[in-house]
Amino acid sequence: MIRTALPTEVTAVTAIDLACFGRDAWTETLLRAAIEDERRTLLIDDLEAYGLIAVAGDVADLERIAVMPSRRRQGVARRILDALCAAAGAQGASRMLLEVAADNAAATGFYDAYGFTTISRRAGYYRDGVDALVMQLELQEA
Ligand SMILES: CC(C)(COP(=O)(O)OP(=O)(O)OC[C@H]1O[C@@H](n2cnc3c(N)ncnc32)[C@H](O)[C@@H]1OP(=O)(O)O)[C@@H](O)C(=O)NCCC(=O)NCCS
Repeated sequence: MIRTALPTEVTAVTAIDLACFGRDAWTETLLRAAIEDERRTLLIDDLEAYGLIAVAGDVADLERIAVMPSRRRQGVARRILDALCAAAGAQGASRMLLEVAADNAAATGFYDAYGFTTISRRAGYYRDGVDALVMQLELQEA
């Protein structure tokens, strides 16, 4: 079941993040701050996947989405993103933006399939020199 993560679940969120991002994982401190920040929404699914948005004005930033390797390609990320888009719309956002490493084939494949379009490319954005793609999704009217 997809629901808002509780501060007491930060250990589970940190474990998912580490399994999915390795050396680029966020610390428990950062993730606790995300859960506790009223401008952000962190949804968790059965303690095996999570997604995080920050809403400011009419823009929602997709900061993180991660599914444990054993649960991938079962539509879990799609369902979390559906819920994040609904939450973003309810908070007044009309579009969602994200940055993704151009060589992250799983993520770019997922965002393409979901309907995001690439609106910009930031050369050498990541520390290993990989470009970032800036992608956007128009949110449907509720
Ligand atoms: C990207 C990620 C969140 C996708 O999660 P997922 O639960 O496997 O995605 P879904 O099952 O909802 O996939 C929905 C559709 O997206 C596309 N997709 C998903 N994974 C893909 C892949 N590895 N390659 C190509 N397309 C992919 C497909 O069209 C898929 O539909 P299908 O399985 O019917 O073909 C997951 O691979 C992940 O956690 N990766 C590591 C963390 C990460 O890079 N996060 C994004 C950057 S912040």
